[in-house]
Amino acid sequence: MRVAILGNKGLLGTCVERHLRKATGHDCYSFDLPEVDISDKESISSTLNQIMPEAIINCAAYSQVDKAESDVISCFNANVTGVHNLAFWSLHNDALLFHFSSDYVFPGKDSSQYTELDELDGQSVYGISKELADRMLEALEGRLKYYTFRISLLFGPDGNNLIDTIIQLAQTSETLHMVCDQHSAPTYTQSIANLVCLFLDYYETGNPFHFGVYNAASRGGTTPKDLCYLLISLYRKLGLTPELKVKINEITTAQWESISKVKLAKRPAFSVLSTEKLQMALQEKGVNPRGFIKTFQQEVESYLETKKEAKK
Ligand SMILES: NC(=O)c1ccc[n+]([C@@H]2O[C@H](COP(=O)([O-])OP(=O)(O)OC[C@H]3O[C@@H](n4cnc5c(N)ncnc54)[C@H](OP(=O)(O)O)[C@@H]3O)[C@@H](O)[C@H]2O)c1
Repeated sequence: MRVAILGNKGLLGTCVERHLRKATGHDCYSFDLPEVDISDKESISSTLNQIMPEAIINCAAYSQVDKAESDVISCFNANVTGVHNLAFWSLHNDALLFHFSSDYVFPGKDSSQYTELDELDGQSVYGISKELADRMLEALEGRLKYYTFRISLLFGPDGNNLIDTIIQLAQTSETLHMVCDQHSAPTYTQSIANLVCLFLDYYETGNPFHFGVYNAASRGGTTPKDLCYLLISLYRKLGLTPELKVKINEITTAQWESISKVKLAKRPAFSVLSTEKLQMALQEKGVNPRGFIKTFQQEVESYLETKKEAKK
């Protein structure tokens, strides 16, 4: 299958490209800034017209949540206009579009897990930009062949992420001030790449998963503070060095802002995603969901094991 990957230099795009290139039978064409700008309609159509992909995987995005508050136009250009351009091309050329959304499309004011049917209400510029793209794709349901995978707190070996930041800080500080009032589900890029490959395979063989939006984070939810405790215990369990001996000082987001004198974009306090719809979809195809949707503890452990292997 001819597959175009946009944003292939980012945290997710790099991993998706690596997995797709390993999977058999796909011709991959990948693009990122500055060569191809998804917000530029001409740039997108001339690039895609040359290769005529049967599937487009949009890993490109403006993903700097705090910077977006003062850089609204760049954020909306990539996250809204860019998705519009890709959807437009896909619609007119009968291509499948994969897109990635965020838990930040939800307000996060309650403490029950979000399903795909819950009302969207992004609280930040970034959250609103992702929400608008989700609404646009949903409005094309029945016309456009698309999958939106909604993910949260991505980590993986191919770019900056919270887990690596915590590890680095824990190895160089005596005490860490860790936020305890933001709950989400960390998501391993490798698991998303596996899901993309699986969905593509079913699509290619004429037995596609239902088009639409799927929550695709790992199971369970955690806070940065509890993630830090998990990393400390996994470092010990896996014998990783140098050991993380840092003390943790539990603080609220408001306290973090006051200590660091940095005003953060508003984040949902509780944005754990329910993956029930995805689990049922996998079961319907005879695929064991446990192989694809793991707990966040399993995901973090497997990431650390990969890091350990890479060190050898
Ligand atoms: N990271 C997370 O924790 C997280 C959580 C939930 C959802 N998501 C979603 O997951 C997807 C992947 O995120 P990520 O963390 O992999 O992002 P990332 O690391 O920032 O990668 C995005 C890539 O897209 C490129 N890009 C930005 N604007 C572009 C444009 N107009 N045209 C073409 N390429 C452009 C970026 O280039 P530059 O670096 O040069 O800007 C970068 O290479 C995004 O849709 C994001 O919203 C991420």
